[in-house]
Amino acid sequence: MTADLRLGMIGAGWIADRHLQSVSELPQVSVVAVADLDRTRAERVASAAGAAVHDDWRAMLDGEQMDAVMVLTPPLAHREPLEAAVERGLPVYLEKPVARTHDDAVAIAEAVRSVGALVAVGYQYRALDFLPDLAAAAAADPLGLLASYSVGATAGRPWFVQQAQGGGQVLERASHHIDLQRAIAGEVDWVQAAGSQVDLAGDQRPAGSDIDDVITLTLGFRSGALGTVLVAWTQPGLPSRYTLDLVSAGSAVRVELDPGFSATGVRGGAEVSLRTGAPPIQRGLERFLDAVRAGDPGLVACTVEQAAGTLEVALACERALAGGGRVTVGS
Ligand SMILES: NC(=O)c1ccc[n+]([C@@H]2O[C@H](COP(=O)([O-])OP(=O)(O)OC[C@H]3O[C@@H](n4cnc5c(N)ncnc54)[C@H](O)[C@@H]3O)[C@@H](O)[C@H]2O)c1
Repeated sequence: MTADLRLGMIGAGWIADRHLQSVSELPQVSVVAVADLDRTRAERVASAAGAAVHDDWRAMLDGEQMDAVMVLTPPLAHREPLEAAVERGLPVYLEKPVARTHDDAVAIAEAVRSVGALVAVGYQYRALDFLPDLAAAAAADPLGLLASYSVGATAGRPWFVQQAQGGGQVLERASHHIDLQRAIAGEVDWVQAAGSQVDLAGDQRPAGSDIDDVITLTLGFRSGALGTVLVAWTQPGLPSRYTLDLVSAGSAVRVELDPGFSATGVRGGAEVSLRTGAPPIQRGLERFLDAVRAGDPGLVACTVEQAAGTLEVALACERALAGGGRVTVGS
């Protein structure tokens, strides 16, 4: 019997709880240490995991025996713990977006490249079991339209509701769909965007928040295809919709992205019906753990390089939201 992989968590908020649930459902892995600036938060997650508690992640990195670390802090606080962990030779599961800023993303990519670190980024749709099928179909019969909906409630975490800190709806919610569309249809050359603080979220959006309730993004793919991403922050209790429609000359396929994960439609005259077992967030973690066991960075579902490409598109969308017009990615 092989020993459990020992994980440390940096950041003990919403997503830490979700990953702890995955860990409890996966074999031969346990969380042995949890760090958060807010010790009460670290204690809450650590007590559920039976793990050690830290309010300083550097002390955790220096003092605990761990096989890998999960960086689950807000985007502005991704770079420092990532760099410190890879310097110590630890593999890292880094939550998305890769960083808040271009400069942090470049520094993270350089830190990873310089030591050949094993790092996965938490864009979990890349771990959809049927993603290779969707990408192969798009290569054989090029897509004309990719249309994503991200309509539903979400938690108004303090950093999320401030555009400067979290990148608002673009980085927090739409970037999942930008990443998935890129995984299927390739590079995006230009974007357009619009946003509005029309009151959809109601009292879910705390006073002083400056982010949009609703945004619409248009992505211009190098292939000539167009993508759209529609995001609406709605109130709890209303029906939600997380989907992606893929349309080509010979196909129309709808991908359901929560709570079930499936792709159905018609391709080349034949019915398409693809499903996945475990939710992709769990599969993404499982693939990271497999990569750690094999010592092979290539086994992760989403690399830093892929996530950094998605960040460039998301940052272009943010510039388009602020200034209007068509914005070239990377300009
Ligand atoms: N993959 C997904 O579907 C998904 C879903 C939600 C959030 N996320 C990502 O996960 C990350 C965290 O989001 P969340 O919703 O858990 O946020 P959260 O606010 O619920 O939790 C973040 C935690 O990090 C702690 N923290 C902040 N700065 C820190 C620092 N420097 N050192 C240690 N702890 C620090 C905070 O005290 C807080 O407890 C973000 O990057 C977010 O985009 C991903």
